[in-house]
Order: sequence, then structure tokens, then C-alpha cells
Amino acid sequence: MKILITGGAGFIGSHLADRLIARGDAVLVIDNYSTGRRDNLRPHRLLTVVEGTIADANLVESTFAGFGPEMVIHAAASYKDPDDWEEDVRTNCLGTAVIVQASARHGVRRIIYFQTALCYGLHPVEQPITLNHPIISGGSSYAISKTTAEQYIELSGLEYIAFRLANAYGPRNISGPLPTFFQRLTTGKPCFVMDTRRDFIYISDLVDCVMHAIDGKGTRGPYHISSGSDYAIKELFDATIKALGITLEKEVEVRQRGPEDAFTILLDPSKTLSDFAPWKVSTPLEDGVRKAIEYYKEYGISETFTHLRIPDKKD
Ligand SMILES: NC(=O)c1ccc[n+]([C@@H]2O[C@H](COP(=O)([O-])OP(=O)(O)OC[C@H]3O[C@@H](n4cnc5c(N)ncnc54)[C@H](O)[C@@H]3O)[C@@H](O)[C@H]2O)c1
Repeated sequence: MKILITGGAGFIGSHLADRLIARGDAVLVIDNYSTGRRDNLRPHRLLTVVEGTIADANLVESTFAGFGPEMVIHAAASYKDPDDWEEDVRTNCLGTAVIVQASARHGVRRIIYFQTALCYGLHPVEQPITLNHPIISGGSSYAISKTTAEQYIELSGLEYIAFRLANAYGPRNISGPLPTFFQRLTTGKPCFVMDTRRDFIYISDLVDCVMHAIDGKGTRGPYHISSGSDYAIKELFDATIKALGITLEKEVEVRQRGPEDAFTILLDPSKTLSDFAPWKVSTPLEDGVRKAIEYYKEYGISETFTHLRIPDKKD
């Protein structure tokens, strides 16, 4: 198959590229490297990389015309500066519109999209969150623009799956708590954890599910990819300490959550478990954290990114 991956130099996109290339599919990646890393993709005869933005309609049109993708995995997103609304709109809204309309013109069979659980708002009204939960995306520029994108995909009438994701982690993940813990612990900086819980999904479990969607499973619309269990952030921290083989003089500080922090974000994966069977999550948190730490040790982290506001960025 010929598969075009937007944001394919990023965490999720590059793991999908690896998996597809390994089974013989031809992959074309479009990425502007705003949060992606060049060393996430190794050169391969089945891989083409186009450097540029998905908001560039001419570039996207010539890329689709030249490659002729049968499937589009739309993983590109802007999120690294919560105040850069223009870039969020340019990439997440305009970029998605450009990709979707090019997909329609070029007869793409299915678009696979990745949505943030923030589409359910900062304080979801049910736990676990079902697919019937109302969409309340007003809490951040990231959530607003990613949700607009999902709505444009729906509006297109094209065949699509929108995977609304739990917190994905693993090698190459440079956003969220795990790379931050690694960076601070290995540079002697103090750490704290919030008294919150999150649902973590290991990258290879996530990729297993997406591969089923590439191969035709699932019906048009949204699905959750999640482990279905939530963990205290402190459990993630403890798994990081264990993987690093260090002991702290005193227990990590647990901070009370602020008004913008939901106590837990737990996505109900039951529809995914039935429609994508035999898919299931198989990586225990400790194993996944160990593999992520091995990656950080080997490749380092020059920068971490987050869509969240960090009150004490300076320390
Ligand atoms: N990682 C998670 O836990 C998570 C959770 C929910 C949703 N998502 C979504 O999954 C997708 C992949 O996320 P990720 O974790 O791999 O992030 P990532 O930052 O590693 O990957 C995003 C990629 O998109 C690229 N990009 C950004 N703007 C672009 C543009 N205008 N044109 C071309 N490329 C552009 C970046 O350089 C990067 O390589 C995103 O759409 C994100 O919103 C991720």
C-alpha cells in the first residue's frame, strides 16, 4: 500500500512509518520538524520525506499528485506554544483542511486522525469517558484547533477513523511527564508530581491498533485508544526512578492539582476492543517506561514540548 503520513517525523508518526516500511508498504512523510526529530526516521528505499508544512496547499497538492497515496495518516499537529494560536490554526485547522481536500481529490480510501482527549474538556463529566461524552473543546487553543480539524474530516464525507488518545508514551516521546522526569532526574533538578491520574498507552500497543485501522477494521468515526486503566502520576515517576536505577533521599513532592487539572482522564476503550479485536493492550507500565528510558539514555532529549502552561518553567 502507499501511505502518506503527515507529521511522520514525530513520535507516533515515525513509529507507524517504521511498522509500515517493515511490512513492505511505501511511505511518504510530510513534516516541518517543528517538534519532530530528523533521527526518528532512518533512510529506506520505501521511505520518501518531504520537508514542509501541510498548510502549504501547493506543496500538498504536488506531493499527493506525485505519490498517489491510498491512505493518509494525519499525525501532524501544532501544540508547543499555548499562546501561538496562529500556528495552531495554520497547522491544525488550515493544514487539516488542505490534507482532507487533497485526499478527496486524489481518491484516498481512508484518513486516520489522532485527536486529543482534551476535546472532552478540562473537567470531563464522566469517568471513564465514553464516546457519547459531549465535546467541550474550549479549554485550550490546541483542543479547539484539533477539534475543528476532526469536524472538517467528518464534514468531508470521506471514510475516516479519528482515534482519540490517552497519553501515549515510549521511545521518541518528548512531550508529557516522562521525558520531563528523565531530564530533571538526570540533571540533578528537583521533581514534583501532581496528585492526578492518567491513562497511559504504550506506543507499540497504539501502533498495533492503528495497523488494524489501516487494514480496514473499524467504521467511520471516533474511537478511543487507551489502556482503560488510570495510574497516579506518582506511579509513573516511581517506574522512572526504578528504570533509572536510582534511589531518592526523600519521597517526591506530590502537589495538589490546580483548577485546570482533571483528577483523572480515563477513556473507555470498549468499542475499540470489540471493533478492532483481537487488539488489546499488552505492555505493562514498568516495561514501557524502561524502554522509553533506554531510548532517552541513548539519544538524549534536547527539548521537551507541552501544550500545557508551565507555571515554573525557569527551574
Ligand atoms: N502523544 C500523545 O499522547 C497524543 C495524545 C493525543 C493526540 N495526539 C495527536 O497525535 C498526533 C501525533 O502526536 P505526537 O505525540 O507524535 O507528536 P509529535 O510532536 O511527536 O508529532 C507531530 C509531528 O507533526 C509535525 N508538524 C507540526 N506542524 C506541522 C506542519 N504544519 N506541517 C507538517 N508537519 C508538522 C511535527 O514536526 C512533528 O513531527 C498529533 O496530531 C497529536 O495532536 C497525541
